[in-house]
Amino acid sequence: MTAFSATASGKIILFGEHAVVYGQPAIAVPVNIVQARAVVTAAPRSPAGAVHLMAPDVGLDTLLADLPADDPLVLAITLTASQLNIPRLPAMEIRLTSTIPVAAGFGSSAATSIALIRALAAFIGQRLSQAVVSDLAYQVECRHHGNPSGIDNTVITYGRPVYFVRGQPFEPLEPAQPLTLVIGDSGVQSSTGAVVADVRRLHEAQNEQTQAAFQSMGELARQARTLIQAGQVDELGRLMNRNHALLRSLTISSPELDRLVDAALAAGALGAKLSGGGRGGNMIALVTEPSAGAVEKALRSAGAVRTWVTTVNAKCKG
Ligand code: MEV
Repeated sequence: MTAFSATASGKIILFGEHAVVYGQPAIAVPVNIVQARAVVTAAPRSPAGAVHLMAPDVGLDTLLADLPADDPLVLAITLTASQLNIPRLPAMEIRLTSTIPVAAGFGSSAATSIALIRALAAFIGQRLSQAVVSDLAYQVECRHHGNPSGIDNTVITYGRPVYFVRGQPFEPLEPAQPLTLVIGDSGVQSSTGAVVADVRRLHEAQNEQTQAAFQSMGELARQARTLIQAGQVDELGRLMNRNHALLRSLTISSPELDRLVDAALAAGALGAKLSGGGRGGNMIALVTEPSAGAVEKALRSAGAVRTWVTTVNAKCKG
């Protein structure tokens, strides 16, 4: 039986998380060392419309029809079927696997949707443009996470570093020098949607201060774009530290993340900050390649449950 499979990488946010929800620019890069995969095969013995979903990593083994209509997997499949003009799906089995930690700031939900949308389109025998894949994943994120900016689905679909402003076409970003990053997982799971909702309440209650912090983050992202394009890595680290301080001032960090950021800097990182939704999940440290091992070691001693080293090259394939 032919299997149609597709993958999608994880992502990290270098600058501008949360501020991007409010129209400020942000920078994100794909992380190919973690991936979501969807494999679709025909199930000719099952009746038309019977979609069997398996995700062994999370213990899911069910018929699509038995999941609630607002489940993100159901949304991804029904939105894709409607986009492909397929009123009744042929019987099939869908197997989902992922090495992307969940609720950790890696964009796991968007990556799963994107792998699923791509594999389903391949199975049906139709091509979807990147723009359509990204938009379908955005629709799933919208119904599931409240008010996403669109940065996660964009960076993951296109698989390259992006300078992103909500509602505008993204700008591909080509680093003049490779950027070596150490990622540390605090081990604390955190729902991005919940933190985004908290930040909205803060924005309503303390509008001026929150707006000023967002504007400063936007300015950091603009400066970072120039430094990345010029290959000025040292200065980039300082901007990351300032971005982390601003996120902290908005209560988006946590003691665990602050400890990891401090440990990375003490071990020689050029800069460090939380990445993604915050209050848990990942932090990132910009390092020189030779110091990556020492920074990883320091992060583990400071409580990181997992670490990864990733390099952002000028041309990053998805
Ligand atoms: C999540 O990866 C980034 C946030 O800014 C949310 C969003 O942009 O949708 C926290």
